Amino acid sequence: MNAYDGIRIASMLRGMGFAETPDVSDADIIILNTCAVREKASNKVFSELGRIRDIKKPDALFGIVGCVARESGADAFRRIPSLNFVLGPQSYHKLPEIIENPDAKLLNVDLSGLEKFDELPDMTDGPAAAYIPIQEGCDHCCTYCIVPYTRGRELSRPFDDVMRDVNAAAANGAIEICFLGQNVNGYKFSLANLIRETAKIESVRRIRFTSSYPTEMTDDLISLFGTEPKLLPFLNLPIQSGSPDVLTRMNRPYSLELYIDIVNKLKAVRPDIQISSDFIVGFPGETDSEFRDTMDIIRLVGYINSYSFKYSPRPHTAAALMKEQIPENIKKARLKTLDAALSEINREFNESCVGKTFECLIEGQDKTGKHLIARSPYMQQVVIPKPESDSGPMISVLITDANKCSLRGKIVRNPI
Ligand code: 5AD
Ligand code: SF4
Repeated sequence: MNAYDGIRIASMLRGMGFAETPDVSDADIIILNTCAVREKASNKVFSELGRIRDIKKPDALFGIVGCVARESGADAFRRIPSLNFVLGPQSYHKLPEIIENPDAKLLNVDLSGLEKFDELPDMTDGPAAAYIPIQEGCDHCCTYCIVPYTRGRELSRPFDDVMRDVNAAAANGAIEICFLGQNVNGYKFSLANLIRETAKIESVRRIRFTSSYPTEMTDDLISLFGTEPKLLPFLNLPIQSGSPDVLTRMNRPYSLELYIDIVNKLKAVRPDIQISSDFIVGFPGETDSEFRDTMDIIRLVGYINSYSFKYSPRPHTAAALMKEQIPENIKKARLKTLDAALSEINREFNESCVGKTFECLIEGQDKTGKHLIARSPYMQQVVIPKPESDSGPMISVLITDANKCSLRGKIVRNPI
């Protein structure tokens, strides 16, 4: 969601005549887009702001947007007085106000819900893979998570507004549509119907969505994986922990049986589907045996391309007040053990792809300019020798080589 916000801000500024520069000291406007989900990223924000303050042009507009802006509010001005604006994740559409009135200080960390979607100018520059947010905020209230505080209550965008954005993205050249939301499958007006409508657009070749909540996986949505070939065979379905007791303390009220039942149903309708997850290790009170439950579940499900984090206490969350916080060295060791196992499963899966042909979406090229970088249907990075002629946005790639992080391949034919 943060990446999406960054794309919208950049697009809005381009529309106002700004151009990107790689050199901060050359910029007329500098915006730090921030995430507050984990403490480390959040802490880095103020040291980074200090660094920028010291090298920026004296009259450059300088501000902070996103969840750390919402979390710190006016305090950000106290800590870095040269900031011109502090805008929360639902108020960055107000940026033009400070550009028109650069001598003012602009503070807006309101949870204004869906307002920004109505106010932001349409995107005129389109990537081949477009993110379309369909909701803001989250009502789940996991005890570790700051998102309900920084982004507020869950709100679903009207179906027609979303489809208008999908059609605009397709008209701008999007081949892949990724629906976004903190609780994307809880979308009130049916994510399954959004996918069906989107699949009717001929130029859209791939559809995916992230991030899903286990209990919101309806049978309608599950069966769509079997009937809609444009829906990629890859799903991020965060389990967070393999221990029922930890899940209870996290306030994630689903059983492992229910979770595994969903995975089995998905595999029944789409045998080639792969699942990814987010994991938190070292949640308050996590015992060795509870951690082993997580290790067991990753082997059982065989997750690929997952994200793993050490638990990080966040302000405004219940878990930060729980006794039995786990010492840093134990969290670190558990993360290392988990990551080693996840890497191993990734490597096995990547190696099993050798000899297969995937339709891949080109993302760009490597630094040498000699290779294309593409994404497989499982979001693996695929490196391909660059062909002499332009290959178009989608290519068929025979996978020739694999390691734990990426695949190598060669173009076998050009499907578009
Ligand atoms: N500590 C560690 N990881 C967290 N996440 C959310 N809050 C925390 C926290 N306090 C992780 C979860 C979530 C992902 C986006 O970030 O795994 O799915
Ligand atoms: Fe945070 Fe996700 Fe839980 Fe919502 S479902 S509170 S965004 S971890």
